[in-house]
Amino acid sequence: MKMGRFAICFILLSLFCISLVLGDIGTATSYNSPYTPTKCGGNRSDQFPSGNLFVAVSEGLWDNGAACGRRYRLRCLSGNNRPCKEGTIDVRVVDYCTKRPCPSTIALSTDAFAQISNAHNAKINIEYVQI
Ligand SMILES: *[C@@H]1O[C@H](CO)[C@@H](O)[C@H](O)[C@H]1NC(C)=O
Repeated sequence: MKMGRFAICFILLSLFCISLVLGDIGTATSYNSPYTPTKCGGNRSDQFPSGNLFVAVSEGLWDNGAACGRRYRLRCLSGNNRPCKEGTIDVRVVDYCTKRPCPSTIALSTDAFAQISNAHNAKINIEYVQI
């Protein structure tokens, strides 16, 4: 009986762990305002989700603009000086990375970056999955 519960716990824990590594691995930086105009919504102010959890994506994810409005769940994995906060955030793509080449896979608004990392102006490793 005890063993059975233990096994179930183990299975659930395994599933939980698997679900955490389903995403892709990439890097993230933050970028500053002004955030408009964006390649997705121009100067519209209603393009930005509440909490300003939005991102600009690099070439590989931009998908010729099809990326606009896509949502990603992401979390900090690692970086210099233990930059990671626990947990995930859900972000919306509003722009094509404004720098060429983009310094990271995904550039986060400063608000979004602050939710997953204690660091400032850092490049961190992230895991991300489209939702
Ligand atoms: C956004 O606003 C700026 C300043 O008003 C203007 O110069 C620019 O053309 C506008 N861009 C778009 C895409 O609407």
